[in-house]
Parts: sequence; C-alpha cells; structure tokens
Amino acid sequence: MTVERTFLAIKPDGVQRGLVGKILNRFEQKGFKLVALKQLIPSRDLAKKHYGVHQDRPFFKGLVDFITSGPVVAMVWEGDGVITSARRLIGATKPLEAEPGTIRGDFAVDIGRNVIHGSDAPETANFEIGLWFTSEEINDWTPSDQLWRVES
Ligand code: RTP
Ligand code: MG
Repeated sequence: MTVERTFLAIKPDGVQRGLVGKILNRFEQKGFKLVALKQLIPSRDLAKKHYGVHQDRPFFKGLVDFITSGPVVAMVWEGDGVITSARRLIGATKPLEAEPGTIRGDFAVDIGRNVIHGSDAPETANFEIGLWFTSEEINDWTPSDQLWRVES
C-alpha cells in the first residue's frame, strides 16, 4: 500500500445541514490525515471543470447549479489507500443503495443531494487536488502521536 492523497468535498447540502463535523470525524477516526481544508462557494467555471466528465449528461446543469449554490468544504486527505477507502466510507452514488454505516447510507436519500464528493482514482485525485488547491495550501506534517510509526 502506498501513501496517497485524495480530494473530498462536503457539498452544499452537507454544509447547510450542519454535517461538517460528523463527516470530518469519519475520516479522522479511520486514521487518515487532513492536509488541506477550506470553505468556498465554487465558481461555475470551477464546478464545470470539476464535473467535466459529466458535461454531456442530462443532470449536468442541475449538478453545477447545486454545487455552486452555497459553501462547500474542500479537503485533501492523506493515507495508505485513502482514495479507495474514502469512496467506501462515502458509499454508493445513490444514497438509497449506499450501505448503512457509510456517509451517504446514513445521511442521504436523494442522488442529487448525496452530501459529499470523493475522487474515484489516482488520476482524478491528482487533477482535482490541483484544481481546488494551490501547493501552498497543502501541508506536509506528521501527527505527533504517529511518530512511533516513522522508521529512520
Ligand atoms: P461524486 O463525483 O460527487 O463523488 O459522485 P460519484 O462519483 O459517486 O458519482 P458520479 O457518477 O461521479 O456523479 C457525480 C454526481 O452527479 C450527480 N448525479 N446525478 N440524476 C442522476 O442520474 C445523477 N447521476 C449522478 C450525483 O450528485 C453524483 O454524486
Ligand atoms: Mg464522481
């Protein structure tokens, strides 16, 4: 397993519903490391680039309208296998199909209001981290309670 970084974003519904703290806790308690975090209202340009792969889908305009409708909490998380693991913690795209215990399984019912985004592969993680953050906004750090894991 190699240390990876992934891009996660709590969507406007998650922020409006006051779920930010509960969602951050899922990733902290799993053992992943937060290396960047900010709140912003995304521009339409940013949202269209982020969801560019879906630009020809019928739900694209509604998706861009929604993701730009209010504050989003954008994050970069780091850890072994974090890209796939975060997607598993998030759950299936359709919240009614998401397993209980996942974020979407516990907090959502509507596919268009599924609370959180997570990168789906290393290539998309790299692209999305670069799209949402500058390198100066991402912190390299070692949690002091994990120093025992560091080998010389
Ligand atoms: P995300 O990118 O937001 O993490 O979600 P995902 O990978 O689980 O799903 P994806 O296929 O990438 O779809 C992106 C978002 O578009 C909305 N969607 N609506 N109405 C529909 O049929 C439909 N399909 C997708 C969802 O909000 C989904 O999260
Ligand atoms: Mg996706």
